[in-house]
Amino acid sequence: MDSIVVTGGTPLNGQIAIAGAKNAALTLMPATLLSEEPLTLTNAPRLSDIATMTALLQSLGVEVTSMQDGKVQVLSSHAMTSTTADYEIVRKMRASNLVLGPLLARHHRAVVSLPGGCAIGARPMDIHVTALEAMGAEIELKDGYLHAKAPGGLKGAKVPLRFASVGATENVLMAATLAKGTTVIENAAREPEIVDLAKCLRSMGAQIEGEGTATVTIQGVDHLGAATHPVVTDRIELGTYMLAPVFAGGEVECLGGRLDLVGSFVEKLDAAGVDVTETKDGLKVKRRTDRAKAVDVTTEVFPGFPTDLQAQMMAMLCTADGTSVLEEKIFENRFMHAPELIRMGADIEVQGGMATVRGVERLKGAPVMATDLRASVSLILAGLAAEGETKVSRIYHLDRGYEHIEEKLSGVGAKIERISE
Ligand code: UD1
Repeated sequence: MDSIVVTGGTPLNGQIAIAGAKNAALTLMPATLLSEEPLTLTNAPRLSDIATMTALLQSLGVEVTSMQDGKVQVLSSHAMTSTTADYEIVRKMRASNLVLGPLLARHHRAVVSLPGGCAIGARPMDIHVTALEAMGAEIELKDGYLHAKAPGGLKGAKVPLRFASVGATENVLMAATLAKGTTVIENAAREPEIVDLAKCLRSMGAQIEGEGTATVTIQGVDHLGAATHPVVTDRIELGTYMLAPVFAGGEVECLGGRLDLVGSFVEKLDAAGVDVTETKDGLKVKRRTDRAKAVDVTTEVFPGFPTDLQAQMMAMLCTADGTSVLEEKIFENRFMHAPELIRMGADIEVQGGMATVRGVERLKGAPVMATDLRASVSLILAGLAAEGETKVSRIYHLDRGYEHIEEKLSGVGAKIERISE
């Protein structure tokens, strides 16, 4: 199994190119199920989660052609062979549930395995199910699978979400494009990946208004056509690399970075004493003082502070001047990185959904273990500033969401290597 070894203490300088968003690609790919004509995605990230979604779509009969080393994906659903998303694939990745809405919309039926528990919480699917039922779907849970049908097709409806779930908003948005009549999603999630999905669906011929706000209105159409769509910048990869020079010193420009994607995160960086400047090609980051200042962080739905940057921010606050309180409001079990950071000398106390981080002068390198995607990267970042060597094992989590992380970080001067044992 591969590990990553980081030796801390080298300032970072230079540019890092930010990839297309994993979470956007994972909803754009199933959008192909809505049309017989091809969907071409450009700026696609090269990640194992994308390979998992490719395998799932191929198991349904979708033709997927990968070009330019995976940066361009051409998907065609003209010869579908199945409407069943099997447990063996779904259990690897929760985002597999994003085939449910489009399958129901175009084929009026779908059998989709429940994803099961995952390391960062229960993550049920009740919001997806209630919303699709409001649109006329009949959904039954049998043998761990959701069996869904919509005889005669889905119907437009008012769909209030009890919580602004990203996945449920995406499923309903896709489903509504081919439903009869008008669908209004209330309390919709407003994440940039949803805006990107709406843009792509519109290029395919869908009629959508209000994406990026809490009320999204979709007028159903008879069919959708071909489209080419560039995947939006990955704001989580962006935020992660923006933190790198805060840990290690130096100045890094993140190419493709946009302030509107990371507004609440940049506010916290500013309060912590970090300068972020817009450049012609992205965002440049440099800390104002040797040591960042403590800040309190609460994760929220967009445009609030993203839960997917909480672990990285916690790692940064471990060596900040003062005490920070982090509150995790999106997932119930998302502090698994804390015990690993403590092994590196951090002073963290976790109580339920709150963590108190008392800044120490410096972390010390240690062997640590990655427990999920964002936790893994927080340990790599911590290693950039720690004294000595940090060895992060179980890094298959990292490859789900960060393409070529060693190349990107060593390109700006980090001492980092992947080793196979
Ligand atoms: C997406 C992102 C993930 C991010 C999360 C929150 C993708 C592929 N993944 O996940 O990286 O961390 O948004 O920004 O885009 N919930 C329910 N019932 C449901 C659905 C969700 O209770 O039917 C709960 C979940 O358990 C969780 C919270 O709502 O506690 C947020 O989930 P949701 O917004 O749906 O996240 P995902 O779409 O799974």
